[in-house]
Amino acid sequence: MIHTKVTELLQSAELDREVTVKGWVRSARGNKYVQFIHVNDGSTIRNIQVVADTNKFDETLLKRAGATGACISVTGLLVASQGKGQSSEIQAASIEILGDCDAETYPLQKRGQDSKDKKPVTLPLEFLREKAHLRPRTNTFGAVLRIRHHMSFGIHRFFNDRGFFNLHTPIITGSDAEGAGEMFRVTTLDLHNLPKNEAGGINFEQDFFGKETNLTVSGQLEGELAALGLGLIYTFGPTFRAENSNTPRHLAEFWMIEPEMAFYDINDNMNLAEEMLKYLVQYALDHCADDLQFLNDTYDDKLIARLQSVVGKPFTRITYTDAVDILIATHAQKPFEFEPGWGKDLQKEHENYLVEHFGGPVIVINYPKAIKAFYMKQNPDGNTVRAMDILFPWIGEIIGGSQREDNYELLHARVKEQGIPEESLWWYLETRQFGSCPHSGFGLGFERLLLFVTGMTNIRDVIPFPRTPKNAEF
Ligand code: 4AD
Ligand code: MG
Repeated sequence: MIHTKVTELLQSAELDREVTVKGWVRSARGNKYVQFIHVNDGSTIRNIQVVADTNKFDETLLKRAGATGACISVTGLLVASQGKGQSSEIQAASIEILGDCDAETYPLQKRGQDSKDKKPVTLPLEFLREKAHLRPRTNTFGAVLRIRHHMSFGIHRFFNDRGFFNLHTPIITGSDAEGAGEMFRVTTLDLHNLPKNEAGGINFEQDFFGKETNLTVSGQLEGELAALGLGLIYTFGPTFRAENSNTPRHLAEFWMIEPEMAFYDINDNMNLAEEMLKYLVQYALDHCADDLQFLNDTYDDKLIARLQSVVGKPFTRITYTDAVDILIATHAQKPFEFEPGWGKDLQKEHENYLVEHFGGPVIVINYPKAIKAFYMKQNPDGNTVRAMDILFPWIGEIIGGSQREDNYELLHARVKEQGIPEESLWWYLETRQFGSCPHSGFGLGFERLLLFVTGMTNIRDVIPFPRTPKNAEF
């Protein structure tokens, strides 16, 4: 018999029929006459209650079926529930143990109830990170991973509905898109016996690709090539950064969404990014209500209100120069840890201040060209580029993007100034020689978006198996 998902059983109006449910036991309680087993199959945050008459079942079977973490299959009648808190339940006719679970050694065994508010005790997130192989079975990670799925689907829907084409850009590259130089090397050379060239350096001609290659930090440059033929494209893929940032906002492997649009200027770019973020937050509110409610009740009672507040009003738009003026004036009254100044990068504390000051998301544009990537379009002032960073409450930078330099001479000069090897980018430069056009794009960090949407405070808790410095377990 085909089993039915818990989410379907709980929504079904068709009662008094035989059903089979398969899932993992969350908890069990009972008395001499009856045993209540709460089963979750991951399809929803909610459990279905299985009611087993102790007369009908062998005592040891019921004990095994009631062990937290055990995997069971139950067939029985779906009936209206007598108890409060659930609409329907299953009167067990047969119970099969698919996988026993020893309650003594099961790491996710619940440790009782919080005596004050009677909420079940949630296991510490740090502890669950060590048990990432089992954490999809917890309410928290069930919720986070379902939301992650819905957001991914929502992103594809947003772009598809607007005529964008999904482009698969390479993961192995020979260029450094961001010019940051913090890349993971890809090689098949024998590290214990490296081939040498005449100058005594490593002979990469003998490597798999005949040259130095790395894992990509961004699909943007290839995305631009395609936008200059297809018009509107977006990428959604893994990106890799070997920066040693052990923070709650950085991963060494993260997923990025990078749309690239021919004929868009920086204002069109900002409009699209703002529309997309609002769409995605609304998408979460519409499609993940149960899971968001759980996270709101368990971790952060302002989560849903914060999500609603973002969709409701326009994002503040401000130039870097004006933002720095505000920060300098504030610093004079109440010093930041890092002194703000024109030409310096905005620190996390500065970004947080701006978001608080304006009471919501802020788009900062026209950054000094010296602190931004070579490909950003230069403004006529000669000092700034048409960059845009979107700063979000709690998160800081959630999006980085720009209008792209479409003028060959200006772009070429920037490549030279920054000492980027031209031979690694000849193809990118060539697009500016053959039918160049104004175009723009941005990159949304998928896990940063998920931090905002779920209210989780550590980026390691919004990706199934995080990769961070000194950590590649699972
Ligand atoms: O600002 P970034 O470095 O921009 C780019 O990579 C551009 N090529 C994007 C573009 O214009 N197409 O990164 C974009 C976003 C950041 O705003 C942040 O949300 C996220 O990617 N991000 C990270 N997320 C998690 N861990 C990291 N180490 C991240 N680095 C950047
Ligand atoms: Mg950035």
